[in-house]
Amino acid sequence: MCGIVGYIGKADVTNTILEALSRLEYRGYDSAGIAVLNGKGVEIRKRVGKLKILAEAVRRQPMKSGHVGIGHTRWATHGEPSEINAHPHTDCSHALAVVHNGIIENYAELKAQLVANGHTFRSQTDTEVIAHLVEELAKHTPLDRAFRQALKQLKGSYAVCLLSKQDPHRIFGARNGSPLIVGIGDGEAFFASDVPAVLEHTRRVVYLNDFEVVELSASGPTLTSLDGKPIKHTVVTVRWDVASARKEGFPHFMLKEIHEQPTAIEQTLLNRLDDVKGAITFDRRTKTFLDKLPADEKFIIISCGTAYHAGLVGEYMLEEFARIPVTVDLASEFRYRGPMLDRGITVIAITQSGETADTLAGIRLAKQHGSKVLAICNVMGSSISREADAVLYTHAGPEIAVASTKAYTAQITALMLLTLYLAKRRKRLPAAQWRLLVDGLAKLPRTVQRALESEDAIKAVAAKYASARNFYYLGRRYNYPSALEGALKLKEICPLIHAEGYAAGEMKHGPISLIRKGWPIVFLAPQSPVYEKVISNIEEVRARKGECIVIASEGDEHIARYADSLITIPKTDEFFSPIVAAIPLQLFAYYVADANGCDIDQPPNLAKSVTVE
Ligand code: BG6
Repeated sequence: MCGIVGYIGKADVTNTILEALSRLEYRGYDSAGIAVLNGKGVEIRKRVGKLKILAEAVRRQPMKSGHVGIGHTRWATHGEPSEINAHPHTDCSHALAVVHNGIIENYAELKAQLVANGHTFRSQTDTEVIAHLVEELAKHTPLDRAFRQALKQLKGSYAVCLLSKQDPHRIFGARNGSPLIVGIGDGEAFFASDVPAVLEHTRRVVYLNDFEVVELSASGPTLTSLDGKPIKHTVVTVRWDVASARKEGFPHFMLKEIHEQPTAIEQTLLNRLDDVKGAITFDRRTKTFLDKLPADEKFIIISCGTAYHAGLVGEYMLEEFARIPVTVDLASEFRYRGPMLDRGITVIAITQSGETADTLAGIRLAKQHGSKVLAICNVMGSSISREADAVLYTHAGPEIAVASTKAYTAQITALMLLTLYLAKRRKRLPAAQWRLLVDGLAKLPRTVQRALESEDAIKAVAAKYASARNFYYLGRRYNYPSALEGALKLKEICPLIHAEGYAAGEMKHGPISLIRKGWPIVFLAPQSPVYEKVISNIEEVRARKGECIVIASEGDEHIARYADSLITIPKTDEFFSPIVAAIPLQLFAYYVADANGCDIDQPPNLAKSVTVE
């Protein structure tokens, strides 16, 4: 999951590419590089480490100006992070350069053939094989055809951009299984792995499909198939503006995105929830899809990471309120465990990016077996949203921080809409109870805003425990997934700390053995039918001198005596508590990581969307 960029136009290419790469750095940040086509031919600069190290090197030793270039920020898959393995990679004669996101599975085979043909390889990467393959084929055919022929020989996934001094008025790009878009500006054009990279210049984009090849000139793209057949393309104007891809005064994207949750939830409810009429609706495609579902349809939710925890909350809601049988699977297991799939199953794929490889493979497997696919996704035009039968978009805006926050609460909001829509359609809920939940949903953005107002109190609690190195998170029912999510947030952004989320009732079957004096345990204890059970779990931990950090409903006088540190959240129906409780869990993790000086937006070894297996 690297970030790639291509530019052709009138602006200074070096700055334009470095700026665009900075908007993609959440995709990978162990090394970076840029290639510029200028009077010197193909000039390349690469550095190990964050993009700012490359930018500093270019500042110290400027590249000769030009108007055509490609760039890359890397998350290593083949070959350790090093300057030689950083992209761009060139052919033997340095006449062309490529940047690539994905994995070329048959690279060793192709490399052996090319070495036998006299090519000299410099790196350990799979990507370099593309440059030499095009070089080899271009000996006998024009560059554009050589590029297409090379792509035909590649097995695996790729989003790739290529420039060549033989053809200074065009750059080339193509995708298969990895995201690539085209940005169309005024007398300039871009390739990019994701929309935020081009928002400074344009909101007009073309989402590419697999096996589409693009010749890009300053006046725009020409699309063909791998065989050179022309392909029509659609230009889409994205809703996101450039501010959404900036920190806007926050020290980290994560903190900004935590504070954007009231708006993200509001936008996800917009035009779907009418609390005056007491109605929930969706766009026609999604509504038709849902209305056609047979009464005995079963759901399988598949997802990864934080989206998996949203899926677990969805399971509880859909089973309890819509009475639909639901199982939840990690997509990486689902795709290989031989799941029972048939026409009576709808697979719900939950994904922020819409590009996660395991989830994408999961929906393809489902479709192969005749199952239907509903995606809950945050990125329009992404692979999963395009391959699903229907899509329930979360409108959280671009999520830049690697640790997911606003997409998570927007995903649960979408699952709430789905649950209440199906519960009503299937007459599963008494009207009064349904109305109560609809009113709660309508109030949710304000409720979350109120939860954010406890930021200072949460920061103080985080400071108290910032030096701890082990945490448990415990919860029951809807807040068992919250416990898992709380632990994941802390682990993601503060790699000094081990944290584990657990079903509170499971404690006594093992993990309780580790509890000793001062060991911090975060309890999710808002008002719920299992409140008393959680209290008993707190007492079990207190009996072993564990330190209890309790997240409870405001106005709960009773619980204070059980807590070493108490964090209160607005009182809501338990149905809404996973969203409201997410706020203190996110802020707690944020401030513990901040107190430990962690790289919060770009934690080591992680990336925003995992597009390779
Ligand atoms: C990880 C991200 O790589 O992928 C997580 O760091 C995310 O934040 C997970 O939850 C799943 O990604 P997605 O895009 O499919 O929701």
